[in-house]
Amino acid sequence: MKLILLGAPGAGKGSQATKIANKYGIAHISTGDALRANIKNGTELGKYAKSFIDKGQLVPDEVVVGIVADRIKEDDCKNGFLLDGFPRTIAQAEALAKLTDVDYVINIDVNFDLVTARIAGRRMCACGESYHVSTYDSDVCAKCGSPLYQRADDKEETVKERLSVYEKQTAPLVDYYRATGKLIDVDGNKTIDEVFAIIVGILDGNR
Ligand code: AP5
Repeated sequence: MKLILLGAPGAGKGSQATKIANKYGIAHISTGDALRANIKNGTELGKYAKSFIDKGQLVPDEVVVGIVADRIKEDDCKNGFLLDGFPRTIAQAEALAKLTDVDYVINIDVNFDLVTARIAGRRMCACGESYHVSTYDSDVCAKCGSPLYQRADDKEETVKERLSVYEKQTAPLVDYYRATGKLIDVDGNKTIDEVFAIIVGILDGNR
């Protein structure tokens, strides 16, 4: 199964991606996570990407297309993969189409007031776990005990820019993929478990 998860910042792509990848035994490919790993490791790519991410802007297409092109060739993608946060522009979608086909594009639709609150309350752990202050009352990770932190691009001004970038550059992908007949719209305003149950119901029903 090859899937794309579309959605605004804070729509819940990462939260759903982890659950979907676990359930169906497919690789979870997050361009955001890949870029942040490069920043953490101090690579040249990471230094370049940081200058865009910190401003809430998209990293240039050729950089993220290169990451995905390499990643989908790896062994753990043989059983399928889920792309989280890629493609984000029409040019990225066209580049992806030259690399591989996909079965479904899941569009997590959320209202913008909700995503702003979700992002403001998000806390991350270096191990990759993500929490929200409204449902998790601790400064350390439940899984590994490390201190939680706020993502640098989760500050209010940067979030505004990320949402504006989404509207201008990424939202047109909804119509792009609708025209292929592969788009599945999901109401992302519900709880994480409710959204997951809807996605599983659709994917299992279509198999
Ligand atoms: P990326 O890391 O992909 O960030 P994003 O798309 O802005 O999405 P987020 O990670 O903020 O949110 P999410 O939808 O995954 O939500 P989450 O599940 O965490 O990209 C970061 C940057 O990297 C970009 O701005 C860009 O610069 C660059 N980049 C990445 N990919 C790129 C590409 N292809 N091209 C160019 N540049 C690229 O949930 C958020 C919070 O809400 C959490 O606290 C969670 O617990 C909570 N939550 C989630 N779902 C629910 C729910 N249903 N109910 C209640 N709370 C919920």
